[in-house]
Amino acid sequence: MRILVTGGAGFIGANFVAHLLAHGAERVVVLDALTYAGNLQNLIPVQADPRFRFVKGSILDRTLVENLLADEKLDTVANLAAESHVDRSIRGPEAFVETNVTGTLRMLEASRAHLEAHPELRGRFRYLQVSTDEVFGSLKPDDPKFRETTPYAPNSPYAASKAAADHLVRAWHETYGLTTMISNCSNNYGPYQFPEKLIPLVIHNALSGKPLPIYGDGQQVRDWLFVEDHAAALATILERGKAGETYAVGGNSERTNLDVVGTICDLLDQHRPRNAGSYREQIAFVTDRPGHDRRYAIDASRIARELGWAPSRSFAEGIERTVLWYLDHGDWIRDVTSGAYRDWVAEQYA
Ligand code: NAD
Ligand code: DAU
Repeated sequence: MRILVTGGAGFIGANFVAHLLAHGAERVVVLDALTYAGNLQNLIPVQADPRFRFVKGSILDRTLVENLLADEKLDTVANLAAESHVDRSIRGPEAFVETNVTGTLRMLEASRAHLEAHPELRGRFRYLQVSTDEVFGSLKPDDPKFRETTPYAPNSPYAASKAAADHLVRAWHETYGLTTMISNCSNNYGPYQFPEKLIPLVIHNALSGKPLPIYGDGQQVRDWLFVEDHAAALATILERGKAGETYAVGGNSERTNLDVVGTICDLLDQHRPRNAGSYREQIAFVTDRPGHDRRYAIDASRIARELGWAPSRSFAEGIERTVLWYLDHGDWIRDVTSGAYRDWVAEQYA
């Protein structure tokens, strides 16, 4: 596999790149615009590998993408580059449409042009769009889990932009015969996640003696997947997925937000106790997110049955590894929580 990974300096991208190189990829080229969420430190573990190359640039730059595909003789694309944070999409939706929708359009067009210029790649070329379960909307407590056939009903600007991108990918397969696949994944957690998302935010705030903000009543449910399992799922889809298909990917670990935050507090009490009392005392209920989806859950039986992938880690195992990683990587947290990060937190949690 000679692959272009967009968004490879972000959370999932960096974990995916490490997985690809550890599992025999011939060439891995990362294209990343290094927005606030992209961080070259996430790629330090792979930077010395001669099969790896980093290019700073945007997926909106179709010429750059086309040149990279040609110069590096790439036969695979995984599009992970995106604006990914729901709360930011509520405050400023435009960047989400630009990057997630127009950016995907440019990636598809660059891929199509690449194949026209290199018809010998036709049987081999594969394009994977890394999407989200949020495109399906919100579940009631007793609703069946999301599956590949669940109708799209996105509720946030972020989810709507990801849904629009998925529709483009589908159309480029149906209309132009591009070999595309889409993965719709549930909430990831693990090393290198930017501390605007619930789990790393709570770990960081807990250690800084700050409130642990729970939106609304904290009874919203997410289906948590350890990021290394997601990376393995993406590689599996690229290797064995069928053209034009979508795959629902999940952790089979539904938890309420309050449960997740309580578990993090207990782990911190064990591994980095406060001078007195529990981190649970820092929990603070704050104003709910507008349009907050109540429950996400994925039925991942199709990818298990057809491609042989299933999550390998329990939530208990994954969350302990995650907490320990953040405890061991104080420098990483310090570097990403300076400057613009402080402005975001001040505005969002004012
Ligand atoms: P992230 O925000 O950590 O990383 C996104 C990366 O994309 C960053 O490195 C950023 O610099 C880069 N980027 C942004 N705009 C770009 C552009 N125009 N050109 C090139 N690079 C650009 O996001 P993440 O959590 O790693 O998510 C990766 C992908 O997976 C996204 O498409 C997201 O929608 C999807 N996803 C995320 C989750 C999750 O729980 N985090 C779950 C399902 C799907
Ligand atoms: O489901 C997949 C999606 O998961 C991905 O597509 C998104 O890119 C990713 O950001 C994530 O979206 P969520 O909105 O579910 O993740 P977030 O970490 O922002 O929030 C998780 C839950 O915790 C959600 O119900 C909102 C809540 N929350 C979040 C923050 C940041 C809080 O209660 N307090 C907070 O401060």
